[in-house]
Amino acid sequence: MPAPRIAPSILSADFGRLRAQVEEIIGAGASVIHIDVMDGHFVPPLSMGPPVVSALRELGAMLDVHLMVERPERQVADFASAGADQITIHAEATPHVHYALAAIRDAGCKAGLALNPGTPVGALEGVELDCAVVMTVNPGWGGQAFIPTSLEKVRRVRELVGPDVDVEVDGGVDARTAGPCAEAGATLFVAGSAIFGQADPAAAYAAIAAAAGAS
Ligand code: DX5
Ligand code: ZN
Repeated sequence: MPAPRIAPSILSADFGRLRAQVEEIIGAGASVIHIDVMDGHFVPPLSMGPPVVSALRELGAMLDVHLMVERPERQVADFASAGADQITIHAEATPHVHYALAAIRDAGCKAGLALNPGTPVGALEGVELDCAVVMTVNPGWGGQAFIPTSLEKVRRVRELVGPDVDVEVDGGVDARTAGPCAEAGATLFVAGSAIFGQADPAAAYAAIAAAAGAS
């Protein structure tokens, strides 16, 4: 299985100090930064786009871009050229999941497929993936409570995708929920409010990393 890693989500960062906050968390050991893109359609809020990805690319972390947008295949080229390392689309956001994942790989990025809490695990069948993302809250907002039934879903997803791909959990991940997620087979742990919403993000990162068995 891939080594466990924490992916701090900048959705909960202070945007006025974004670069400093990301530098601080990389200094604390983070090698992945999670960037949440929302279009006001697939999910109600609007968030950020390719310029934020390019602004962070020179900091050296792997940029994990989570597209919560309809018809994500139309956005792949722009995010890839902005510097995304991994691009995740939602199974619910396009009738062309296989095509969109292939487009991500053709653009030189790792390809992720995310499932909303109500989407069955079978949506992962028949596609080639680098990362299966189990949404452990409904997408759209940071700071929501982890949905407990997600743990069983993570187990089933790990069984389905085998040992070689990342299984990412996104939503409500903190020092309390990260351990059970790791036990269930997760290897990539997105945490927004539990890191950037805290007074000491570096200490919060360390606590989640320890709980997840990440270095
Ligand atoms: C939610 C986003 C998450 C969000 C997680 O739609 O996909 O990545 O930043 O936030 P927390 O960790 O606060 O639940
Ligand atoms: Zn996300």
